[in-house]
Amino acid sequence: MRFLVTAGPTREPIDPVRYLSNRSSGKMGYAIAEAALEAGHEVVLISGPVNLKSPGATQFVGVMTSDEMHDAVHRHLSGCDIVVMCAAVADYKPAIVHAEKIKKSAEPFALDLIPTRDILASLPRQNRHFLVVGFAAETNNIEKYANQKLREKHCDIIVANDVGIGMETDENEVTILFRNNEQAKISRASKQKVARELVKIFLNSCEKRLTIKR
Ligand code: CTP
Repeated sequence: MRFLVTAGPTREPIDPVRYLSNRSSGKMGYAIAEAALEAGHEVVLISGPVNLKSPGATQFVGVMTSDEMHDAVHRHLSGCDIVVMCAAVADYKPAIVHAEKIKKSAEPFALDLIPTRDILASLPRQNRHFLVVGFAAETNNIEKYANQKLREKHCDIIVANDVGIGMETDENEVTILFRNNEQAKISRASKQKVARELVKIFLNSCEKRLTIKR
């Protein structure tokens, strides 16, 4: 099987020295890439800027902005069997990127932001030949919001986690929601262990899809 995994944050430039980003460390996405490789699969890892070494045998694609990640995902989609969208893509970007450094003044300063493209929601929805896994990082109403994302973004699976546990840490605890309303839980463990379990679940769902199609 061939996995496409997105990981890490994106950076949305404001001017030559400043950007908007978030606290994602990329550890969960990298652990999934590593677990898929360990299990003998091919991996394309599309990563925002993180302080991690890319697992050896991946096809590694480094990106900075949400637009670069969007284009890289669509460029590498063909031939993939399982698409895992683990990246914490910025939801907004500055409307204008200033060519020169913005100088400070004593006045309040407001930045005009526009929505970025939703990469997960931009994946083909009809007759697709790959399994689509989204992630939902939430602080509250985790299952409700994750369920909305599962349906609104046409995912086959959503992996939901509480950012209070999984953000910038080495451990995670996740709830997995499937389209047929089934659920599974992986209790708190290292991201490596959670990743190995997730890869098994993704492969299993992929097999089931293939069986149904045959
Ligand atoms: N995602 C994406 N492109 C975006 C925003 C999010 O592909 N511009 C993907 C993420 O990789 C993840 C899923 O959408 O798989 C959910 O991301 P999350 O940040 O939890 O939710 P949002 O859709 O951004 O909604 P909100 O911030 O309101 O929770």
